[in-house]
Amino acid sequence: MRATYRIIESTDIQPNVKMFKVYAPGISRKAKPGQFVIIRSHEYGERIPITIAGTDPDNEDVTIYFAEVGVSSRELGRLKEGDDILNFSGPLGNAIPLKQYGEVLCVGGGVFQGANYYLAEALHLAGNRVSSMVCARKRSHMFLIEKLKEISKELFFATDDDSDGDRFQALLESTLERGGYSHVFTFGPTSMQKAVCMATKKRNIPTSVNLFPIMVDGTGMCGACRVTVAGATRFACIDGPEFDGHLVDFDELISRMRYYTPQEKIAMVLQEEGVI
Ligand code: FES
Repeated sequence: MRATYRIIESTDIQPNVKMFKVYAPGISRKAKPGQFVIIRSHEYGERIPITIAGTDPDNEDVTIYFAEVGVSSRELGRLKEGDDILNFSGPLGNAIPLKQYGEVLCVGGGVFQGANYYLAEALHLAGNRVSSMVCARKRSHMFLIEKLKEISKELFFATDDDSDGDRFQALLESTLERGGYSHVFTFGPTSMQKAVCMATKKRNIPTSVNLFPIMVDGTGMCGACRVTVAGATRFACIDGPEFDGHLVDFDELISRMRYYTPQEKIAMVLQEEGVI
């Protein structure tokens, strides 16, 4: 009999960002920060990798946040509380080692604020002194702030337009300059993670990035998620998603992630017109 992955809670975080808690006992027992699931919402659906943003082994559920920005994520977003997800595979990828780093800064952006909180809380519980930086287009696009306050020594807000926070690049530079951090972790849009690495590299602060290139199987067989790290080809799904950010070829990664953008745009128009 096929396992049932029921949506037991669905919350609209922002107009196009949703949070699901999904009943998935096996994954909720095993998952750790940095790992991900691959989801297929229906029989003809695309496989979507989504970072795990929390687990509750008592309630046997897994928390995910996702942005409805493409055909498949919009299809996932149409599911309601009580609906079942066809496939919910995981936990995949490597967990981020929860060791003693000392003074750490966790930088989370966009929909990855959920995954960033999951890691920041775990690092805090492991005895690290955690400061957090939340990055979003606007302050109203930030979430989990109260929870971050509970576990963060310092909390910084970076917005694109400095309407209610500081501009990302300036805040990042000033924070790193005075922070005395022994390690930086980032979850977020690839361009944001690249910017974090450029700023930490010149200060020699070890930096862990979490990469989500295009993925298909999530188990190392298709090669879709390849990234170049220290001049060698690595697969984000089985060698990562966490990598030493100072060794990643971000320009190649960003270019590869744009590869199917024209097809995605066409598919979204066809979806809006009810053709697919
Ligand atoms: Fe296929 Fe990583 S997603 S090799």
